[in-house]
Amino acid sequence: MRKLAFFLMAVVTSASGETPDVFRDADLKLGEKLIAENQCVACHQQKVGGDGSAIYRPAGRINSAGFLRGMVERCNTELNLSLFPEEVNAMAAVLNRDHYHFTK
Ligand code: HEC
Repeated sequence: MRKLAFFLMAVVTSASGETPDVFRDADLKLGEKLIAENQCVACHQQKVGGDGSAIYRPAGRINSAGFLRGMVERCNTELNLSLFPEEVNAMAAVLNRDHYHFTK
């Protein structure tokens, strides 16, 4: 029963077009774990204070899911985290769900 509800939710969400194509297969649980493990928030907090989320500016220069993904990729490269593309994508998808809300 729960599986069915989840399935219906997934169908409704994708049908409404709220999840950008690039994040459709993203593993959100993995993304949350990676964001927690890789000091993303700790460093952002040092920079902007509070809970660090002020670093995410949905109305700033990042204006699409692809761009957001690229920014996470850049952080990944600069920090030498050596993450896989699916992992970068998963983190970007979580940031999109929680902060940016891009639909494409
Ligand atoms: C060593 C410090 C540091 C770490 C660690 C770090 N960041 Fe950042 N991040 C920054 C700074 C500084 C900026 C602002 C850069 C700018 O405005 O050009 C930023 C900006 C961003 C932005 C763009 C915000 C916006 O809307 O303009 C995203 C997305 C982001 N970081 C994601 C991540 C993720 C995901 C991780 C973990 C894998 C991470 N960052 C780890 C320092 C860090």
